[in-house]
Amino acid sequence: MAYSEKVMDHFEHPRNVGEIENPSGVGTVGNAKCGDIMRIYLDIDDNQVIQDVKFKTFGCGAAVATSSMATELVKGKTVEEALGVTNKAVMEALDGLPPVKVHCSLLAEEAIHAALWDYAEKHNLKIEGLEKPKSDIHEDEEEEEEEY
Ligand code: FES
Repeated sequence: MAYSEKVMDHFEHPRNVGEIENPSGVGTVGNAKCGDIMRIYLDIDDNQVIQDVKFKTFGCGAAVATSSMATELVKGKTVEEALGVTNKAVMEALDGLPPVKVHCSLLAEEAIHAALWDYAEKHNLKIEGLEKPKSDIHEDEEEEEEEY
């Protein structure tokens, strides 16, 4: 299986790894095929421009490379523009992925959508064209610990 130089570069030196404290939106999605998980944090300003983005991926190399590239592509974009960062756009920017790894790139697109969805919900906004990803893993942060 041959990976492009760009995929290898983003896999070995992923950009924007980490978390954002008090993010405007956070999205966690899971890949049903392999069980890998990706989380994306967005910091969005009052003009709906993505000022910062960070990710964490518990997944394969292609998932790491695509999340890294996806974060680079949405940074500085408006929320509306970020919706145009599809898995196809991410793959093109990486000079392609082997066919068996194409599903991995969907995780990045869906994590961005899940984070935008969270942002829209928190701010009572409707973002044209945004749908809640099916792979969204909603985590209830208020969840109370069970007592025995
Ligand atoms: Fe799971 Fe790539 S094999 S995301």
